[in-house]
Amino acid sequence: MAVMRSVLYVPGNNEKMIGKSSGLGADIVTLDLEDSVPPAEKANARVISAAALEEVASGGSEVYVRLNNWETLMTDDDLEAVVQKGLHGVTLAKCGHPDDVKRLDWKLDELERRRGLARGSVKISILLETAKGAINAYPSLTASPRMVSAIFGAVDFTKDMRVKLTSEGVEQKYARRHIAVAARAAGVVAIDAPFVAYQDMEAFEANVRDGRQMGYEGRMIIHPSQVEVCNRMYAPDPDDVVWAKGVVKAFEEEAIAKGSAAISYNGKMVDTPVYLSAKDILASHGEIEAKNAIRK
Ligand code: COA
Ligand code: MG
Repeated sequence: MAVMRSVLYVPGNNEKMIGKSSGLGADIVTLDLEDSVPPAEKANARVISAAALEEVASGGSEVYVRLNNWETLMTDDDLEAVVQKGLHGVTLAKCGHPDDVKRLDWKLDELERRRGLARGSVKISILLETAKGAINAYPSLTASPRMVSAIFGAVDFTKDMRVKLTSEGVEQKYARRHIAVAARAAGVVAIDAPFVAYQDMEAFEANVRDGRQMGYEGRMIIHPSQVEVCNRMYAPDPDDVVWAKGVVKAFEEEAIAKGSAAISYNGKMVDTPVYLSAKDILASHGEIEAKNAIRK
């Protein structure tokens, strides 16, 4: 699966921030055409974002654009402007139903053909940030082969639920857990919600830790200071990499080669699922190392 530890949002009409975004080390930079852009600036944001795609990608981040959802009647204009060379994916805001995804998939198919882009090259990611979005998470996430990630949007979710957004996040618990499980079931990456108190790094790290244990493998972020934390905390822990190497070697030499499926390693039982988890850790570690090598 693709590495998506840090998904940095940048208002699509803010040329200064867009200029900075490519050098910040985020796995993904998302140019926003939705909530961070006022209505009068939408057209301007489309032009600026479309022109910035290749430049932003040149820093080693994948480039996504966040689209206004279908109900706004702006989605087609967003897509017409930004589906072109250099765009890695689009994120549909406030996705509530699998039909929203199918419609997007068809439209992308048409634009890829019209513009001579490889079919299926533009990936889809969806923001699940309404009560409907949370309830329909799994059907929506399986509605297109382009789907790569589910993002939990806590700010709009609490608005839709008519509750207050807090740093402790008790009001988000059910949807946050549900979306992580739905994403795993659909075989896509779960991306955790933005943490709006972006200056409180201690609270942010604690919150990232909680989300990781729910299955989140990356985070939607709003400020450059959050990139390093995400790239570090969503990568496998160095101690776990050492452990995984030891487990894989021991299991292959002592179990598989000798016709058994369970061994003792450092005083603990290791059987096939433990071996496979260790291999997953090494695969993630390998993908991140490869990514770091390209950036250097
Ligand atoms: N992407 C790129 N650069 C950013 C950035 C972002 N998301 N957020 C801040 N920066 C830059 C600033 O331009 C500033 O650059 P400078 O040092 O060259 O002047 C530097 O990082 C430090 O920024 P800071 O002064 O701490 O923050 P700010 O007051 O300028 O901005 C926010 C704070 C929250 C308004 C801003 O981070 C932001 O707009 N974030 C994205 C909002 C968004 O996309 N929301 C929709 C998704 S929820
Ligand atoms: Mg929003």
